[in-house]
Amino acid sequence: MDKGDGMRLETKATHVGHEPEPLTGSIVTPIYQTSTFVFPSVDEGAARFSGESDGFIYTRLGNPTLAALERCVSALENGEKAIAFASGMSAISSVVMAIVSAGDHIVADRCVYGCVYSLFSGILRRFGVDVDFVDCSQVAEVERAVKPNTKVVYFESPSNPVLKLVDMEAMVRIAERHGIMTVMDNTFMTPFFQRPLEWGIDVVVHSATKYLGGHGDVIGGIAVGPRELMDQIAETTQKDLGGSLSPFDAWLILRGIKTLHVRMERHEYNAMKVAEFLEGHKGVERVYYPGLKSHPQHELAKKQMTGFGGMIAVELKGGFEAGRTLMDSVKLCQLAVSLGKTTTLVEHPASMTHSTMTPEARQAAGIAEGLVRISVGLEHVDDIIADLSQALKKATGY
Ligand SMILES: Cc1ncc(COP(=O)(O)O)c(C=O)c1O
Repeated sequence: MDKGDGMRLETKATHVGHEPEPLTGSIVTPIYQTSTFVFPSVDEGAARFSGESDGFIYTRLGNPTLAALERCVSALENGEKAIAFASGMSAISSVVMAIVSAGDHIVADRCVYGCVYSLFSGILRRFGVDVDFVDCSQVAEVERAVKPNTKVVYFESPSNPVLKLVDMEAMVRIAERHGIMTVMDNTFMTPFFQRPLEWGIDVVVHSATKYLGGHGDVIGGIAVGPRELMDQIAETTQKDLGGSLSPFDAWLILRGIKTLHVRMERHEYNAMKVAEFLEGHKGVERVYYPGLKSHPQHELAKKQMTGFGGMIAVELKGGFEAGRTLMDSVKLCQLAVSLGKTTTLVEHPASMTHSTMTPEARQAAGIAEGLVRISVGLEHVDDIIADLSQALKKATGY
């Protein structure tokens, strides 16, 4: 039952990686809070280092609690192998830096999480990697940006923060034609609503800090992909850059995943109601939510996702000042970055999560200066709407 073959996602989330511990029968996967593992002999130690034996060596290189989490997420994404990391950024940087070298080229979507933008446009360029940011929802733009040295097409779908979708099938077609790898961030949807590997995407990355962990109490990341590539990542950037997850944090994420499907259904139910409320509000200029018929890619959303998730963005009449008043006036909703936790969070991308982008880069990505991002939580939806309603009245007069 290791890989969860034949099980539905809900069953994998509750069973894979959660097998009873064989020595004591503990029904919960233990936290192997250890830095290192005793070798029974020098020969066995050498065999583990050379890869001839698969026992554990040192927690930066692997640990049974991390391995349980990796088995679970790999099964959820229907992948061959997953690697857990200390953060989403560690997962993303380790995957991309294992694939590219100086002189290579990356095509990335213009609208990505702010630190991904600064990693690509700052650090990677400093190490001689060429990066072009394009609108990956425009297939021709991606095609035009591909060069003979392009190694990776990188995007989020839906993107943070404007919930723009990228057509996975179209990206895979381009990548296959040119022998390029596709790396996709599935943080917003989770494998409950979207499984990119089943569409031919090569590697899926997650900020496990968000919906996978689900409770706002842990920072972590995970990447899933083909065994050969994941082995290469494990032996290079994961090992040598050293962004490994702590066993306790792996355990928290594994515990969170047991309720992923239940939480995601409620996040989506609440988000749909909040999006409809906002769309009908007189003080609102525009609502971004893939579940709304007014979303320009609603049909694509229905094609490649099985739900629309819990993330919404909104622009108010009155722009930034109105948005600021809204965020300063919420009482139940909380003004904080991050997303995918139990409580509803509001934040201002231009000055917070996407402040590492230049104003021009934000404009090109379609991130209005007044945009407010909402991570809809698990409270009663009427209470969320009542809070937003009183804050909107202060912000817009309606
Ligand atoms: C879509 C997305 N990807 C990646 C990250 C980075 O994850 P972490 O904060 O766990 O490093 C974030 C963080 O907000 C995110 O929103």
